[in-house]
Amino acid sequence: MTEGGGKVKNIALSPDGSAVRIVDQTRLPGELAYIDLRERDEMVEAIAALRVRGAPAIGIFAAWCVYVLAGSYPAESFFERLDADCDALIKCRPTAVNLARQTERMRALAHGMAGAPVHEIVGALGREARAIHEEDIAMCRAIAQAGLSLLHPGDTVLTHCNAGPLATSEYGTGLGPLLLAAERGVDIKAYVDETRPLLQGARLTAWELMNAGVDCTLICDNMAALAMAQGRVQAVLAGCDRMAANGDAANKIGTSGAAIIARHYGVPVYILLPSSTIDLACPTGADIPIEVRDGEEIRSMWYEKPMAPAGVKCWDPAFDVTDHDLITAVVTEKGVVYPPYDVNLKKLFGTEERT
Ligand code: MRU
Repeated sequence: MTEGGGKVKNIALSPDGSAVRIVDQTRLPGELAYIDLRERDEMVEAIAALRVRGAPAIGIFAAWCVYVLAGSYPAESFFERLDADCDALIKCRPTAVNLARQTERMRALAHGMAGAPVHEIVGALGREARAIHEEDIAMCRAIAQAGLSLLHPGDTVLTHCNAGPLATSEYGTGLGPLLLAAERGVDIKAYVDETRPLLQGARLTAWELMNAGVDCTLICDNMAALAMAQGRVQAVLAGCDRMAANGDAANKIGTSGAAIIARHYGVPVYILLPSSTIDLACPTGADIPIEVRDGEEIRSMWYEKPMAPAGVKCWDPAFDVTDHDLITAVVTEKGVVYPPYDVNLKKLFGTEERT
């Protein structure tokens, strides 16, 4: 399931169609391992434990899960089972809009076919999951192209979290311009924030960029200010979990800090995202639910022995919101969007039907 240029096929239907096959991202970078998931509980666990993660990826994964699960529902309880499974998937993580959006898209399709034979509904769900997946592949390609147009040969960018192929499909969003540049032989380098507390930058972004042949340097999150002060960074590239109608962008915790530092040093901040991550029904970043995770991620995870006193209170928010004022441009599959975002996002995406 590994393709050229560091792109990994992170989500697929198993060859016999009975399971959703994913790269278990918790085992990277040490091991590229695939797991097959058939039962709702293991699918829910995979999202919650970040075996599959990244906003577009969890939406695509949920769509395939709905299809696989629906294949086993008896006709008499089809919609009851479907609704319970959709609700359970949506509940796993609150911040990325893609999870609810793609799950609801699958649910609405099935309900729209009420009265049709079950095998026809399941067939249509399979085609819908494939469509969702293929749309993401195409959107990521377009985002990579548009993002690369903002960079110059010789530039070095700062990345935060992981917005590469593992988090999406093929090119990724935040990492798309880097992967495309490497393919084209354009020299763009990267500083990679390790991204505390779950180290998606160190474990996943560094792995993807090295596989793609991108010159990258890992730093701790608190080193970004010095890197910018010394003129080492020409742009900040980040993905997004949910963009509100005014352009406020929820992304991995620490993104807003990087953007604030970038503003201080005059470094442009580009948020790269597919339209499936834009939530025009959400007025501002203050309306985006922020996931708060288990404090053990800070206290003891990754350490041979706990690095904080047992029982110390921890606050472990997984995302923060970068104020739209700090975002130089938003890069989408329809091109580069500039402020005012409340006007320009609506102009480009306001007429699209959204569940
Ligand atoms: O908690 P995670 O690892 O799912 O968080 C992911 C991010 O914050 C990504 O930057 C975001 O989903 C964009 S992925 C294209």
